[in-house]
Amino acid sequence: MRIAVIPGDGIGQEVVAAALPALDLVAEIFDLDATVEQFDWGADRWLRTGVGLPEGAVAQLRAEFDAVLLGALGDPRIPDMAHGRDILLGLRRGLDLCVNHRPLPLATGTIELFRENTQGLYAGVGGTVGPPDRPTVAIDECVYTRDTVQRFLRYSLGRIRDAGQRRVTLVHKANAVPHTGRLWRELYAAELAAFPELDGTDEYVDAFCYHLVRDPGRYQGVVAPNLFGDIISDIGAALLGGLGLAASASICPQARLALFEPVHGSAPDIAGTGVANPYATVLCLALMLDHLGHRAPADALRAALAAARAEGGTPDVGGHDTTSGFMTRVLAALRHQH
Ligand code: NAI
Ligand code: MG
Repeated sequence: MRIAVIPGDGIGQEVVAAALPALDLVAEIFDLDATVEQFDWGADRWLRTGVGLPEGAVAQLRAEFDAVLLGALGDPRIPDMAHGRDILLGLRRGLDLCVNHRPLPLATGTIELFRENTQGLYAGVGGTVGPPDRPTVAIDECVYTRDTVQRFLRYSLGRIRDAGQRRVTLVHKANAVPHTGRLWRELYAAELAAFPELDGTDEYVDAFCYHLVRDPGRYQGVVAPNLFGDIISDIGAALLGGLGLAASASICPQARLALFEPVHGSAPDIAGTGVANPYATVLCLALMLDHLGHRAPADALRAALAAARAEGGTPDVGGHDTTSGFMTRVLAALRHQH
């Protein structure tokens, strides 16, 4: 496994540095060959050189790596997050990562949440009329192509079935956003026909949010367009017990190379204090191992996280551990299992 690591900014650097020894240890225990190469793409480099995602980065990742691990991007010195958009959107679009998978292991059962990751309101189509600094009209278009929606749904429904789930819900707002809404509903019905094991329904996003908070056990597989998926995945992270626990995988249905990142940002409010929660980043390593076909080491990492959490945790989840203190528990639990 050749893994490109982009620690990024703020606590991204801290949680990545803390989590990587868990990859080394699990690789040693399971006799896996994992090599890691670090890239300094982030705020410091942007401020120094004006470069976010360097020229040729996408081609290099495609040619030389099996997976990308990203910490977080975001820096108070770059308030418009220009570098983050350049790097994150550049990777998502450049690597054609149209599927974003966020598992939500809740007490009521696991929700497998899949969000379309490249189009919709985030397609970057739009513009302004009038003076650029004080426009009179501002437009962001919601753009979906049949091809991307179809690839996204086919892949996500397959993963939901493979996870052993039976219910799946499409989240949309076809009453108020009719054109893309109809395209999604049409393709959802068509793709579902190939999955007789799945019982498919659909819900308006507002009603879905209401039920998700009150009765999360009602949901198993969930598929959603970009904007709705972004919002409901943060509600999901809140239900999990915090942003520090939520991990995501960005996947291209047609390629092996995928990107793994914790859901949280660079947390400037706690950066440098040594208490960032590395849980989500270790969970990213488990998702990465799953994706690359190494199920047993992925399960071992998840078991070690659960054991560590039963004993302690960082302050964001109500514990007193430091970042490295929590990782000491994770590594001890891994060694203890094997
Ligand atoms: P954030 O996720 O960085 O932080 C929100 C709150 O959760 C903060 O109070 C923070 O201390 C806490 N928190 C987050 N992760 C934590 C962890 N692992 N352990 C303990 N506490 C944690 O979101 P915020 O503050 O809105 O954004 C900060 C910067 O990060 C901004 O520049 C933003 O643009 C960027 N950002 C980047 C993302 C990415 O790289 N994918 C995602 C979200 C935000
Ligand atoms: Mg988000």
